[in-house]
Amino acid sequence: MIPVYKGKNYFTSGLAFLKDPVQFTIDQGRELGDFYEIKTPFRKIFAATSPAVIKHVLVTNHRNYIKSPAYKELKLALGNGLITSEGDFWMRQRRLAQPAFYKKTLEDLFNKMVDYVVDACDELETETQFDLSQYMMKLTSDIALRSLFSFEDNADIEKMYDKIGETQAYIMDRTLFPYLRWFYHLNGRHRGFLKAKKDFDEMAYHFIDLHRKNENPPADFITMLLQAEDAETGERMNDVQVRDEAITIFAAGHETSSNALTWTYYLLSQHPEIVEKIRAEVDAVIGDRKPTFSEIMRLTYTKQVIDEGMRLYPPAYAVGREAAVDDEILGEKIPKKSIVFLSIAAAHRNEKIWDNPDDFNPDRFHPDKVKSIPKFAYMPFGAGPRMCIGNHFAYMEMQLLLAMMVRKFDFKYERDQPAKYETLVTLRPKDGMPFSVSNFSVGR
Ligand code: HEM
Repeated sequence: MIPVYKGKNYFTSGLAFLKDPVQFTIDQGRELGDFYEIKTPFRKIFAATSPAVIKHVLVTNHRNYIKSPAYKELKLALGNGLITSEGDFWMRQRRLAQPAFYKKTLEDLFNKMVDYVVDACDELETETQFDLSQYMMKLTSDIALRSLFSFEDNADIEKMYDKIGETQAYIMDRTLFPYLRWFYHLNGRHRGFLKAKKDFDEMAYHFIDLHRKNENPPADFITMLLQAEDAETGERMNDVQVRDEAITIFAAGHETSSNALTWTYYLLSQHPEIVEKIRAEVDAVIGDRKPTFSEIMRLTYTKQVIDEGMRLYPPAYAVGREAAVDDEILGEKIPKKSIVFLSIAAAHRNEKIWDNPDDFNPDRFHPDKVKSIPKFAYMPFGAGPRMCIGNHFAYMEMQLLLAMMVRKFDFKYERDQPAKYETLVTLRPKDGMPFSVSNFSVGR
């Protein structure tokens, strides 16, 4: 029998978990261990950070599990893309989409984003306070939309950004306040969502069509998805599938990277000595020039910093699965429909694995040490066949953004109290992240 978290009663135990699943699983991981049940009146919920349980659910027995109910709401906006699809359909789409993430494509996408990023850094206003999380969100979504559609016109980017933002906000509210769904149908919110989705779809299909008709289409995700061919059947994706994968890549790829960077800057604002080490590396590898793809990929210390940032604040703080059939894990019966909540945030702060788990120390990821980190103890991108397909894109983007900004600016966190998080789809700063920047060479 595994330990059971009962709280004061059935109802409050589930609420305590839902209120803050990150702190709850960090605390209970330290209290109850790495595999336990959370008693609730509705269905069985198991929480785990145990490598054996993670391996069982995400790798060895992954066929017995489907994505947890939270993902179902996402389908309304994302359709049947890689994040939300299951079974044979998912497997075929994954095979088709994989080449879009090969190194050669990433290099093309890098060349598309580098000027934009360098210019965006040049335009950052100094000495005024701004919300770093909002700034990063806009930057990473611009990068995602340019990498998908090769937009040249800022008006297209703005329109697409607004429409997706509207649909995402609605899905978020439906997920957080399920009891209000009927009301959203009455007060026009649902209609507003359908209109925003229709506007988005019209734009997406228009640009997909332009790509199809172009004899020399730009090197971007849409072109890669259109050209992808099933090696066995020769089949390609139709426009609906390309649309679903495109919005999925956008949704999965920009908020996660934005949050990873925002939290990393927050941690760096308390560690000027680590900022200096990044600068020294950027100076040695790139200097003042515009960076190349291979230079960015050579920034090993900068990557260590990002890895440590994602250890403490993993943007995807958990991976949830529902048992599709009755199963058994380490002798514990897992009835069909149970939820297994694999807490990435708690695994990353497991005291049995990490010395001083709450301290920010990028040296943990030094190439000599990284091999001794046990499997499944660190997994910001998930694990198994459904592991993040965009992890190399994410590193490329985050290393570029961190290097370019640190090279130019000093960053200051502008709130007296420590930053707080909220657990929405990703681990976001609560009430923004007030920062100011100054040119770092000033006063030297
Ligand atoms: C720091 C950045 C990122 C983090 C932390 C992250 C994290 C994750 C995690 C944990 C999963 C697995 C979810 C699960 O098993 O339920 C996932 C899946 C996925 N990610 Fe990412 N991701 C990041 C960036 C990106 C980027 C940049 C892209 C695309 C350009 C992307 C596209 C996807 C897709 C399509 C899936 C679904 C894969 C599948 O089920 O086959 N992600 N991501």
